[in-house]
Amino acid sequence: MINFGSNSMRKEDAAAEIEQLKKEINRHNYLYYVQAKPEISDYEFDTMLEKLIALEQEFPELISSDSPSQRVGGQITKEFPTVHHRERMLSLSNTYSLQEVDDFYKRVSKLLPEQYESCPAFAAELKFDGVAVSLVYRDGLLVRGATRGDGSQGDDITPNIKTLQSVPLRLGSFSGEQLCQSGSGEIEVRGEVFMRKDDFTALNEARSEDEQFANPRNATAGSLKLQDSAEVARRKLFFVAYYMKGETVTVPSHYERLVLLEKLGFYTGGNFSLCYTLEDIYGFISQWAEKRWKLPYEIDGVVLKLNDIALWKELGATSKSPRWAIAYKYPAQRAKTIVRKVVFQVGRLGTITPVAQLEPVKLAGTTVSRSTLHNLDEVARLDVRLNDTVFIEKSGEIIPKIISVDKEERGGDTVPIVVPDVCPSCGTPLERPSNEVNYYCPNEDGCPAQVRARLEHFASRNAMDINGLGKAIVEQLVSSGMVSDAGDLYSITEDKVRGLERQAEKSAAKLLKAIEESKKQGYDRVLFALGIRHVGLATARELTAAYPSLDKLRKASIEELSDVPDIGPVVAESIHDFFGKPSAAAIIEKLRAAGVRLEAAKPKEPVNLRFEGFAVIFTGSMEQYTRDEAAGLVLERGGKVVTSVTKNTNLVVAGKNPGSKLEKARKLGVKVISESEFDEMLHEQ
Ligand code: IVH
Repeated sequence: MINFGSNSMRKEDAAAEIEQLKKEINRHNYLYYVQAKPEISDYEFDTMLEKLIALEQEFPELISSDSPSQRVGGQITKEFPTVHHRERMLSLSNTYSLQEVDDFYKRVSKLLPEQYESCPAFAAELKFDGVAVSLVYRDGLLVRGATRGDGSQGDDITPNIKTLQSVPLRLGSFSGEQLCQSGSGEIEVRGEVFMRKDDFTALNEARSEDEQFANPRNATAGSLKLQDSAEVARRKLFFVAYYMKGETVTVPSHYERLVLLEKLGFYTGGNFSLCYTLEDIYGFISQWAEKRWKLPYEIDGVVLKLNDIALWKELGATSKSPRWAIAYKYPAQRAKTIVRKVVFQVGRLGTITPVAQLEPVKLAGTTVSRSTLHNLDEVARLDVRLNDTVFIEKSGEIIPKIISVDKEERGGDTVPIVVPDVCPSCGTPLERPSNEVNYYCPNEDGCPAQVRARLEHFASRNAMDINGLGKAIVEQLVSSGMVSDAGDLYSITEDKVRGLERQAEKSAAKLLKAIEESKKQGYDRVLFALGIRHVGLATARELTAAYPSLDKLRKASIEELSDVPDIGPVVAESIHDFFGKPSAAAIIEKLRAAGVRLEAAKPKEPVNLRFEGFAVIFTGSMEQYTRDEAAGLVLERGGKVVTSVTKNTNLVVAGKNPGSKLEKARKLGVKVISESEFDEMLHEQ
């Protein structure tokens, strides 16, 4: 055993360590969320956070409200208190017309004192498509986060706001940057909370069909109003700051305030410019008309604000919006095309969805060739037929949608859309329950399209996340008869996969590895992956908390299930029905035999603090651990990982083929250990 001293910690040491960890975590947060230049892996970050939480648990009196540990959520708010905004949260006057931008520019110029008449400066920014919120800081500490509401009063959603990593809990906490002279007094920062497009897509993928959000803005609004802040923390919301005000904020121009906001730790998006002339303004507008499609989030226009803040008062505001700013909105992206064909897709629950195949057309940066028609009610509402000319828009600028039919162009060749009598995949007669708009294929177990869709769902990123198990390979696995439910995935062999068309040796091995890895996924994901109707990932988590093992859950009655938070009678019945089916029992037994997790993980065992106060360096490759894992394990146990050997380095872990660091360490007399000694230290009690 290698002994490096005692593990117990004095309170003063813990306080110093907590401060250090807070600072480091805030710095990495800033690097990740504001500058998009992370220096460490997510794993290392999480380990640091876990360490902070563990120390705070040991010394609860050292927890401060600005600790990054306070972001993980957990507070449940039954009803959000109403708060009054000190200064009314105005809206912006919107326009779609460049002529009106021209009028605004000239109007503002005229109203200004003489010296500005030739060229007042405007700050041009992006108009983020999210939800406006107000943050109040007192003496640098976040004390309140509120929604806009009606402009005069909104909801106090502080516990939810605190979970957003891009909201500093203390101003300038990572760098010691002081707010103007003192950092004291009350400061209000306003901005938009939004969801990135990819996070929005992933969120919807993790929700059941009837829980889908229409666009990232709706998803954001819905998330901010959640009562459970731990769920808000999982929603990956961002805050972008675009306005600040406070007695101690003396910076005289809006542009400089945006720069100051960045220094204080806020994300601004960074895409703002000063414009002196109308040409500059038009240039900014036209530049972002195209570039916006490449942004990871949605914007719906550009905002122009008079740069000199002293003049804002002079110009004043109407009852709704300030006269010193205007929003130019990009026109909705529309295109005209022709419906060439309508196919009927069969979903994993047997739902039949009409999908229009369109003459390919460019829209909002991509080529669109298909669009869902949702159901027959939608087909009737649009009165759309085959060969019709239609207008399409990207709703929420992600999913193309048919908006209307151009009836003037309707010729004699249009054909009404009718649902086939039988399932396009298996030929079983379709059914339509009397209270529903959808048609269903009732052949749950035998319909190849349903089997395929269930497997795709099982493998999807929020479920078992089996990389490489895409549409094409699923199709081959099912049609070859190798796989007929998710349980079969765990008994396929590399040989057999290699025998499939277009399956190279390498990709077969990769797929098998991904399937094997998926056995490590948590029980909540497995539950979601089973594809029970109405059970999205959030519901699966609720179920996991109430029934930590699948065997217990299977036995629950509808009444018992209805007692689980957020589970109503419809969902309870659906869960109960699912487990009553022989096909479900068969899958579960196969998953069990394969070693897939059917129980919630036990709480983590406490780890030793073997590396307390140690600066550790790795050189060479290890057999059991990746560098990231090894670094995380050291951090978890109180140590620090450094990248170059100095006299302050305490320990070198030398793997196979060590580099020059080993030599240097020996010269400096630093202790060197092997991988197995390292392993021994990790597991010492
Ligand atoms: S400034 C007093 N700047 O657009 C002016 N608003 O249509 C306060 N918005 O309610 C707003 N991006 O929710 C401003 N760069 C930006 C913005 C922005 C998005 C939203 C905001 C506002 C709405 C008005």
